[in-house]
Amino acid sequence: MTPLRSLILAVAGNDTLRRALTATRGTRGVVERFVAGETVADAVTTAARLIDSGLYVTLDYLGEDTGETGQAESTVRTYLALLGRLGEEGLAARAEVSVKLSAVGLLLDEKFALDNARRICAAAERVGTTVTVDMEDHRTTESTLRVLGELRRTWPWVGAVVQSYLRRTEADVAGLAVADSRVRLCKGAYAEPEEFAFTAKHDVDLSYVRCANILLAGDGYPMFATHDPRLIAILGERARWHGRKPGGYEYQMLFGVRPGEQRRLAAEGETVRVYVPFGEQWYGYLVRRLAERPANLAFFLRALASR
Ligand code: FDA
Repeated sequence: MTPLRSLILAVAGNDTLRRALTATRGTRGVVERFVAGETVADAVTTAARLIDSGLYVTLDYLGEDTGETGQAESTVRTYLALLGRLGEEGLAARAEVSVKLSAVGLLLDEKFALDNARRICAAAERVGTTVTVDMEDHRTTESTLRVLGELRRTWPWVGAVVQSYLRRTEADVAGLAVADSRVRLCKGAYAEPEEFAFTAKHDVDLSYVRCANILLAGDGYPMFATHDPRLIAILGERARWHGRKPGGYEYQMLFGVRPGEQRRLAAEGETVRVYVPFGEQWYGYLVRRLAERPANLAFFLRALASR
């Protein structure tokens, strides 16, 4: 991880900075570039627009590290309302949801989070779509995989997420890529200690390719979440080598990041899913996006200066 990225992720936890930025009107343009809006209606409008342009969608109600049962309940209800709307609008065939277990109570109690995640999966099943369980920092990897395993006993289609920066991931991937499974491979977005994670970009990328090969050779459905042009080219070549046709795997990218590339891949017949976050709790999400790319940070600082 670069020193700049570590610094941004470190200062992000500062409460004064958090309050200042969330209260700043000048940040709105930056937020809108990466976040679909604050309400379920905003999320559904954005999803419909992306689907109309030939893309698939996974919707994330922003919020994480919930410390209150009431907050977790409100998050679950928002997901239930969202899934209901996706069904009503006829979008469920192309729009699923992504859920962070810490937003539905993982830090309070694992069983509580599991029960909440079950309610979301049951609602997704009713409207005919799927759920992917986002992966958070390394302290939650074990509990997240345990909850995922429980969910998959009822709903084998519940998507797993693995992070190539974690040293353990190559070993995890083989066990996850079973028949009927869906596995998203990403690099990983948190500031992790060297003991648990590769810190050099090259090592993270090499791990990504090793994990991608395991997924492509396995019986599951690989979901490649990356904007990295080099990796996207390698993934296309590896998919063909493993005899996978477009539709036998998918690419995933974040809302607002490389939209031209999203359209280009879709026009070539690839399945491309856009991760669309929405909600008022955009701060943690936005900081991780800024940390990934200094150009985003410059854009953000310009917006602040011009308010
Ligand atoms: P990286 O950030 O290394 O960038 C590599 C190259 O990609 C850059 O050099 C540039 O060429 C291009 N690029 C990247 N960003 C760009 C931009 N804004 N504009 C133009 N070019 C750009 N993480 C996690 O820990 N848990 C999770 O559950 C998820 N879920 C998830 C879902 C989806 C759909 C995506 C796309 C990502 C995630 N992530 C995630 C985040 C992920 O781990 C990672 O932090 C980001 O995707 C950034 O990594 P990249 O692979 O894009 O490459």
